[in-house]
Amino acid sequence: MKGEEREAMAVIRDKGEMRSWSRSRRKTGARVALVPTMGFLHRGHLALVEDAKRRAEFVVVSVYVNPGQFAPSEDLESYPSDLAGDLRKLDELAVDAVFCPPDLYDYGGYGGVSARREVMAMSCLEDRGRGGAVHETWIRVERLEEGLCGKSRPIFFRGVATVVAKLFNVVEPDVAVFGKKDYQQWRIIRRMVRDLEFDIDIIGAEVVREADGLAMSSRNVLLSPTERQQALSISESLSKAKVAAQNGVISCKGLQASVVELITQAGGRVDYAEIVDQEDLRVVEEIKAPVVFCVAAWFGKVRLIDNIEINP
Ligand code: PAF
Repeated sequence: MKGEEREAMAVIRDKGEMRSWSRSRRKTGARVALVPTMGFLHRGHLALVEDAKRRAEFVVVSVYVNPGQFAPSEDLESYPSDLAGDLRKLDELAVDAVFCPPDLYDYGGYGGVSARREVMAMSCLEDRGRGGAVHETWIRVERLEEGLCGKSRPIFFRGVATVVAKLFNVVEPDVAVFGKKDYQQWRIIRRMVRDLEFDIDIIGAEVVREADGLAMSSRNVLLSPTERQQALSISESLSKAKVAAQNGVISCKGLQASVVELITQAGGRVDYAEIVDQEDLRVVEEIKAPVVFCVAAWFGKVRLIDNIEINP
């Protein structure tokens, strides 16, 4: 248990040090919660931290932009970061430790960000062909990663599941908190934990929104003022669809068409708008059981995702 006086927030870069820190807390019977993040923290992340604080005596936040979940064509280089700001925010919330490793993968002989990214995006077999002694173990949650974001981001969930498993093995938390904004990610992590027998409770925290409804995301700062306005069409159209479903519209086709139309009219480009079962993420045609309406759409160069749960 924590003493009366709060220890200074630990900022840990080394994996071994992180593991010992966590083990020494858990040895006393205290619970450790982990909130995995890629930094550039906003109120959505801070809500995850608050949630974690209610569930454990000690809270660790990891800050690591994981190259393994970005394809070469994606926005790793422009992904926003502000470690000093993140540390200040986490200290204000009395977080116990921040784990910010310089790297979590072994890149063998490859150097430099773009070479590393190329390696991360390759499959194990392609990599063997190149003779690289690099990270070659990946976790795939095979069916759950197929649809939704997995269609346009084929290596994304492999990268997420693998790095989250690594974080679990280093931090050894009792509980880990994820945002339901990344619904598919949350479901994939839960399935991975169940399938691989990690003894960790996985919590899904509700989506946190700006006052006007835009789901909080680190990528929101990349939107121009016009795109920011256009992006409201996602949450607005999803809310309308939910009201329609609650008023008895159960056919998904029409609900999907109206969401696509509203986002397109606003100036967005829809990647997908799918209504899926909340548990197994299979596409449904009619809303008869709990579903989640998931959307991904581009505004300029920024791809945003959002979702709304519908419980008939
Ligand atoms: O949701 C995120 O920020 C990332 O996907 C995660 C879970 C930290 C893994 O890199």
